Amino acid sequence: MERIVRVELGQRGYDIRIADDFTVALPMAGEGRAALVVADAHTGPLYAAAVQELLADRGFACTYHEVPAGEGSKSLAQLGILLERAVAAGLDRKSLIVALGGGVIGDLAGCAAAVYLRGVAFLQIPTSLLAMVDSAVGGKTGVNLPQGKNLVGAFYQPVAVAANLATLESLPEREYRSGLAEVIKYGIIYDADFFAYLEQQQAALLRRAPEVLGEVVARCCEIKAAVVAQDERESGLRAILNYGHTLGHALEAVAGYGVLLHGEAVALGMVYANLVSTTVLGFPSEDARRITALLEAWGLPVRLPGTFGWEALRGVMATDKKADRRVPTLVLAEAMGRVRFGCRVPEAELAGVYARFAGGAAA
Ligand SMILES: NC(=O)c1ccc[n+]([C@@H]2O[C@H](COP(=O)([O-])OP(=O)(O)OC[C@H]3O[C@@H](n4cnc5c(N)ncnc54)[C@H](O)[C@@H]3O)[C@@H](O)[C@H]2O)c1
Repeated sequence: MERIVRVELGQRGYDIRIADDFTVALPMAGEGRAALVVADAHTGPLYAAAVQELLADRGFACTYHEVPAGEGSKSLAQLGILLERAVAAGLDRKSLIVALGGGVIGDLAGCAAAVYLRGVAFLQIPTSLLAMVDSAVGGKTGVNLPQGKNLVGAFYQPVAVAANLATLESLPEREYRSGLAEVIKYGIIYDADFFAYLEQQQAALLRRAPEVLGEVVARCCEIKAAVVAQDERESGLRAILNYGHTLGHALEAVAGYGVLLHGEAVALGMVYANLVSTTVLGFPSEDARRITALLEAWGLPVRLPGTFGWEALRGVMATDKKADRRVPTLVLAEAMGRVRFGCRVPEAELAGVYARFAGGAAA
């Protein structure tokens, strides 16, 4: 069954198509245009041939470019190689750059599409759960610098997002569960009924049951689309998508990139954000316990997997993009499905709750 979610951004608006195969998810016509399909060393061998065949049937002249798998490919070096490949393949202003992969490929290829010839059309074909529910939607593209993540990039919307749920079958278990952390986030920040649905469907989701996955991916995309349509460039509301990310990003950085997967760090960050929310905004402990229980049921970490000193974490939090003059501003929950952004919390409170969290408190 096909589901379509519209991202309402006026002339830059587009459809997210969610289906069980590429043919339904990807209805666009090429009429002699060139397309450069970008994938990594995992997604390319699995899916690039099918996507290129389909694009060729639709009239595109395809070229393929593969990058190494992993966060290391979100680099200026890989961006340069990709842009030179686009020149060599003869891409012009009417051409299309296609991202076939997880968030790394989407961010890298999107960044290339934003700057190549000052902008060419860009198609997202997300293949990880995280990319389907989060990174492929909303137009944030970019690469990392040695000094930090996503320090170079552009807001650049795709012309369409084509999610083929069948690609999730080959996603490694740990990557899949990491994506589920972002799914839970949407329930907390926006939709208490959706959170209850996730609780009901927790076993089906672990089995990757296609019908439930279709519902879940579509609902996450609807929520992200609604938020992005109101605040495309993150001047306010879009910050709510960062629930759990302030501490999460700091944990990722302090642990060393790649040690904790993004979703695992976000799971820990959400547990901490729940504890701060309970202390500062009276977020019900019962709801915090429900969140922890669901994270645990999905095998996501809810307690720190080692010793992480507060000073080091607090140092990274000061450089967070949402920080205001080095003071982190947090997204905190008032009730299940309702959050506030831009919250300033006294230092002693942040450190005190962290001490409880580091001591094993999880709700
Ligand atoms: N642009 C945004 O709004 C946004 C939002 C969230 C995260 N991100 C970025 O996304 C990146 C993380 O994305 P990710 O978790 O998808 O990482 P990823 O792209 O590295 O994919 C994770 C791993 O799964 C593999 N993989 C992906 N799909 C597969 C499939 N169907 N079958 C087998 N293997 C598959 C990849 O090759 C990789 O090894 C980070 O760089 C993060 O900064 C961007």
